[in-house]
Amino acid sequence: MTTIAPSRLATLWQEILTLSQVKPTETVIVVDTPNRINPYPEMAITQAKSLGATAEYLEVPGRTDLPEDAVALLKTADLIIDLAFILDGRIRDCRNGGTRVLVVLEPPEILERMLPTLADKQRAMVARDRLQKAKTMRVTSKAGTDFSVELGEFPGMCQYGFADEPGHWDQYPGAFAFTFPNEGSANGVVVCDWGDIIYPFFTYIQEPITLTIENGFIREITGGVDAEEMRSFMERYQDPEVYAISHIGWGLSRTASWEAMGQYEKGQTEGQDGRAFYGNFLFSTGPNSVGGGLRTTPCHLDIPMQGCSLFLDDEPMVLEGIVVAAGQQA
Ligand SMILES: [Fe+2]
Repeated sequence: MTTIAPSRLATLWQEILTLSQVKPTETVIVVDTPNRINPYPEMAITQAKSLGATAEYLEVPGRTDLPEDAVALLKTADLIIDLAFILDGRIRDCRNGGTRVLVVLEPPEILERMLPTLADKQRAMVARDRLQKAKTMRVTSKAGTDFSVELGEFPGMCQYGFADEPGHWDQYPGAFAFTFPNEGSANGVVVCDWGDIIYPFFTYIQEPITLTIENGFIREITGGVDAEEMRSFMERYQDPEVYAISHIGWGLSRTASWEAMGQYEKGQTEGQDGRAFYGNFLFSTGPNSVGGGLRTTPCHLDIPMQGCSLFLDDEPMVLEGIVVAAGQQA
């Protein structure tokens, strides 16, 4: 792990706010929960003001069930800098009014290494547009994955690390494209191989986990201790919805790294390195409400996998962990 100078951190904040199109006429609200030792609120406010915007800090008691007056205030913002990862569904109401939202949780040196660029957005948008047209996705791997879904019920989506367009939600940093399978359409086998990552466990898999998927749901989880941990974690929710397939897509950040997680203690990072590393297959379980679906189970596993091949309508986007699609390569 490295540290960076306060002046460098200030520059990063100015750059991310500029990429997020902060204008002198705009209002930026920085929201966070109490008792966090964090230089980001002051940095964000100072840099937003240096761009001519009005900027203020809003402390909320927790990530859910925001007070009514806090929601009313957030609706007045052009850009919300969310340092807490607010889960209150009324953030969507703010976005429907045009408010942009940028979540920032990673430590300074990761913000520095993964500072996004306009080119990241362009590549992510190419991937999103391709997803938007796709009817099928198939993923294979040498470890034994052979997994297919039908697409079209949910939009193609992407993140690219800044919030520049009205209503856009994003997280700094990380670029990737994703969508959700048509309800009931996911079928096949996903083999999470050694070295693949499981969030929120923040672990590298030591023994392959084989997931047997039928008609949209994981029906069987087999393997060693990692499989047992996953199975036990999911069982605790006592909810069949936890076994559904959530967002699926691929990583597009050259500056993200698979190995970064191993350099930190649990809780020191948010995991954007794993979710965004170039050419990953990001498989996940549980809710699909972010895509517009009805499933809201709180049990959500993100599983970035290495070395997979991902095809849309038989056209390769990623081959054995390498992005090959035109317009998406970096
Ligand atoms: Fe996720």
